[in-house]
Amino acid sequence: RIAYVNGRYVPHAQACVHIEDRGYQFADGVYEVCEVWSGKIVDERRHLDRLDRSLGELSIASPMSRAALGFVLREVIRRNRVRDGLVYLQVTRGVAKRDHYFPADGTPPALVVTARAADPRAAEKVADAGVGVITVPENRWDRVDIKTVGLLPNVLAKQKARERGAREAWFVDGDGMVTEGGSTNAWIVTKDGKLVTRPADHGILRGITRQVVLDLAAREGLSVEERAFSVAEALEAKEAFITAASSLVMPVVRIDGRAVGNGHPGSIARNLREKFHEISE
Ligand code: PDD
Repeated sequence: RIAYVNGRYVPHAQACVHIEDRGYQFADGVYEVCEVWSGKIVDERRHLDRLDRSLGELSIASPMSRAALGFVLREVIRRNRVRDGLVYLQVTRGVAKRDHYFPADGTPPALVVTARAADPRAAEKVADAGVGVITVPENRWDRVDIKTVGLLPNVLAKQKARERGAREAWFVDGDGMVTEGGSTNAWIVTKDGKLVTRPADHGILRGITRQVVLDLAAREGLSVEERAFSVAEALEAKEAFITAASSLVMPVVRIDGRAVGNGHPGSIARNLREKFHEISE
């Protein structure tokens, strides 16, 4: 495997960043994960738009032009012969002597890109069975709309999910409303067939997959309510699912060990999953 690290393509096993990289010391960086499907980066423009926004919100300089970045992403995909999988990119505020203040102007941001193949058949098996989620109290900062590499609450929540035999953890705010998953957006389908997902304000990441599913729902003539929903409402729902570039539309069949709907993936979630690539760019 080959990775891109600050201007070089290097063997993955030897791909290193400096010990004083601010991503390493302060989680002072942002990232994107894009799906690679049939050799193509899915929704590249939207991901790079969101990257620009994340960088802008944190006053981190762009590491290179969009065209150059697109080239690097494609080159890493090509060198790893990835046809279906994921490409990961991370930009940090660069390398500087440890000090909380931003480093001197002109300190170059650090860019890392990796790609890896995924097994689409394995993913379909998971989707056919559906996944479980647990619920955990929301304990993240109030700017989770910025896709930073500061993911410790997400890591702890997802690990807890795994230990309980679930795939994802849903964060629940002080009002009992689901915000989102540790690495996914959260959705339910009400008994009368409406899709419900939380508005993309500062309380959740504005998922690209979420946006594509909103577009797809409109095309399919499904009604959508962008509003918060509670855990109790999700347990009463007909269906639930999660969305992310890494899992697309993934049916949720259990919440805290209790069945959602009939305990099997719902037809609306399955249909959205099946048609996803008809509308993604
Ligand atoms: N996670 N919410 C959170 C907290 C996320 O980390 C992600 C993505 C999403 C979904 O966003 P998108 O549809 O653009 O992938 C929502 C990536 C995949 C990750 O951390 O691996």
